[in-house]
Amino acid sequence: MAYLTTTAAGQPVLILKEGTSRSRGREAQRNNIMAAKVIGEVLKTTLGPRGMDKMLIDSLGDITITNDGAAILDEIEVDHPAGKMMVEIAKTQDDMVGDGTTTAVVLAGELLKKAEDLLDQNIHPTVIVSGYRKAVQKAVETIDKITSPVDIEDRETLRKVALTSMGSKAIGMAKHQLADIAIDAVKQIVEQRGERKVADIDNIQIIKSEGKSLAESQLIRGVIIDKEAVHSGMPKKIEKAKIGLIDCPLEIEKTEFDSQIRIRDPTKMKAFLDKETQMIKEMVRKIKATGSNVLFCQKGIDDLAQHFLAKEGMLAVRRVKQSDMEKLARATGGTIVSELDDLMAKDLGKAGIVEERKVGDDKMIFVEGCKDPRSVAILIHAGLERMIDEAERAMHDALSVVSDVIETNKIVPGGGAVEVEVGKELRRYATKVGGREQLAIEAFSEAIEIIPKTLAENAGLESIDVIVELRSAHDKADGYAMGINVFEGKVKNMLESGVIEPFVVKQQAVKSATESASMILRIDDVIASTKPEMPRGPPGGPGGPEEEY
Ligand SMILES: Nc1ncnc2c1ncn2[C@@H]1O[C@H](COP(=O)(O)OP(=O)(O)OP(=O)(O)O)[C@@H](O)[C@H]1O
Ligand SMILES: [Mg+2]
Repeated sequence: MAYLTTTAAGQPVLILKEGTSRSRGREAQRNNIMAAKVIGEVLKTTLGPRGMDKMLIDSLGDITITNDGAAILDEIEVDHPAGKMMVEIAKTQDDMVGDGTTTAVVLAGELLKKAEDLLDQNIHPTVIVSGYRKAVQKAVETIDKITSPVDIEDRETLRKVALTSMGSKAIGMAKHQLADIAIDAVKQIVEQRGERKVADIDNIQIIKSEGKSLAESQLIRGVIIDKEAVHSGMPKKIEKAKIGLIDCPLEIEKTEFDSQIRIRDPTKMKAFLDKETQMIKEMVRKIKATGSNVLFCQKGIDDLAQHFLAKEGMLAVRRVKQSDMEKLARATGGTIVSELDDLMAKDLGKAGIVEERKVGDDKMIFVEGCKDPRSVAILIHAGLERMIDEAERAMHDALSVVSDVIETNKIVPGGGAVEVEVGKELRRYATKVGGREQLAIEAFSEAIEIIPKTLAENAGLESIDVIVELRSAHDKADGYAMGINVFEGKVKNMLESGVIEPFVVKQQAVKSATESASMILRIDDVIASTKPEMPRGPPGGPGGPEEEY
């Protein structure tokens, strides 16, 4: 595992209080910039479809092979505060739009690198920050100008967006199929809220299964619950399922206090037990009377209830997670009921099939064939565990970009086209601003070209030649969509090549990169309480602070 830390070597440190360290001015800035740059450098080689992958090994020896910016930074233990801020950018980018994490981090690193040159020329950080702020506004405007509207019924475009996002993931041949699954899934759960369309991809479950091939991955119009039927005597498959959803336990409530009942007469004992049996039986009868043949319970179902449910030919599952209960309700159209007495026929959800199936080594309950489900599941198959994990990340990115496009309706050309266009506009704009800020805006215009430059470098192309060609292509009328097609190694119209991305991904990447670069630049004093030195170990375990040496 990589471990990035501040070194105190040769650094003037003023001790303020025991256990506190401090670095100021240029020194603090240099350290911060250096840490941020290192993170940017780490991710650089993974950018684009011809980028390399990283192999990450955690302390337990588990291996992850990935190309995903957010996943890489998640695994690297970053100790440096400015480095941590870079990790934050990736997280924010991932949470907000789901793709473009590498772009955001690489750009932030480059903005800081260019800022360092300006600092060397004695340009004050405040000037750089305000220049960057003007530049990012202009950049956002420029990106806005070159977007194209999308008709969300235009499946071909959605497919291209999904394929562009998956292009860089190490998942081989099954991309087209996964792209189609992603589009179907998002289209199924999209909702109209007033004027807006909302596609919340939390309503799409991704379930992984080892074995078979990626190409056999499938969309389930319903939900997969990682549980099995409570009783072995229950049917494994129920067609035309009518599903009860309850979040109360199916058992006789125990009193809070211990109590004793003395029964002296053996016949009374039987009567007592019979009474309990009767109560449980009555509960099950009520459930059955609603017409249901499947039951999902968020709480427990006791042995006796299991027995009766099985006898009634029902399939029941207990201790279902609350989030899964909600998904079941969304998928089947049922209502979750808290009091057994309130369960009515109208509360039941419907599904074509409810079946217990084996997925890898586990048994899971598939609820599928739902009519117009508001929650769906994707079952990803792959031969190797590492392959499934990367496929899951690729699927996450594809779902994100498809939902971004459906929600905002706008796309931009990829392959560095946006970045070159922004660079061009900024160079023009800089001369208008003038003064020292001009230098900062020019620095920004150079920094943003790191994206096409890196895409070219990662494809083994001569990046300087590519940039020169791209710039001249963009100087021509209607050249805004010209980018580098890394597979052909040629400068081409990216819209025509089908390399397209959601507008929000680009916009968010530029914004969050600038924001964190500016934040890091404004810091000129780092005062840190150093943690007491101790061997690394689990908190509270041996080696904790209480231990005496
Ligand atoms: N066929 C292609 N030719 C040229 N560039 C491409 C092609 N496909 C994708 N790209 C570009 O690759 C870049 C995306 O690369 P990548 O997916 O590795 O990083 P990211 O999206 O920034 O981060 P992450 O996917 O790790 O969150 C975008 O600039 C995109 O336009
Ligand atoms: Mg990507």
